[in-house]
Amino acid sequence: MRNKIVAGNWKMNKTRTEAEALAQGIVDGLAGKNIPDSVKVLMCPPAPYLWQVQQIANGHPAVFVGGQNCHQASSGAYTGEIAAPMLTALGITYVLVGHSERRAYFGEGHDILKAKVDAVIAEGLQAVFCCGEELAIREAGEQEGVVKTQLTESLFHLSAEQFTQVVIAYEPVWAIGTGKTASPEQAEAMHAFIRQLVKEKYGAEIADQTTILYGGSVKPANAAALFTQPNVDGGLIGGASLKVETFVPVIEEMCRQMA
Ligand code: PGA
Repeated sequence: MRNKIVAGNWKMNKTRTEAEALAQGIVDGLAGKNIPDSVKVLMCPPAPYLWQVQQIANGHPAVFVGGQNCHQASSGAYTGEIAAPMLTALGITYVLVGHSERRAYFGEGHDILKAKVDAVIAEGLQAVFCCGEELAIREAGEQEGVVKTQLTESLFHLSAEQFTQVVIAYEPVWAIGTGKTASPEQAEAMHAFIRQLVKEKYGAEIADQTTILYGGSVKPANAAALFTQPNVDGGLIGGASLKVETFVPVIEEMCRQMA
């Protein structure tokens, strides 16, 4: 059975003390709960807190830590950047690649993201590759073509073996931080489309094993409707991941469905 993942993307939020309290609150909130083996929880804090949050995550076997970004080179004169091996050295196991904010505000296009994917895979980390269309594209009905291009250009050069280190996160840009969630039907339609693309490229077995997350205004109130969709394997969550009271219930919903 493929993994289900509830991932929190904290973005550029929290003081050090708040980050520690949030991570500890999540670990404590899950303590003693029945977490099915297939359910993983991921916390993606700002880089300066990664070490601290990883130490806290070590307190629960279902909780993992991810970077929000990394550079494509393994070292070098890139002031301010973080290399994938530096994340590995902290015990980090996942990295977000190609979040729409990285694409929009930091000019990360297909080629850079392809190189970042390679850097993450080479390091033995799991890449959480984000894709998704902007509102105008959705309104024009061209969302499948855009997502197909994002996957083809930055991901589908990987070998089948390398691809097992990939998690896909479908995040329609118009639903991120806006309170507008894709309907469960819209999410399912795109997830089924993505799984079909993976199947055409890598075969049925790998497609069936690939975890595809939905992101964009996921919260306790809509988690059940999204997670019951057959091709939605969890969420990449921004706003609702910043509080224990809104993040843990989303994890609990996934656990309920997998129990
Ligand atoms: P949101 O963010 O849950 O606040 O919409 C999701 C994301 O950007 O990953």
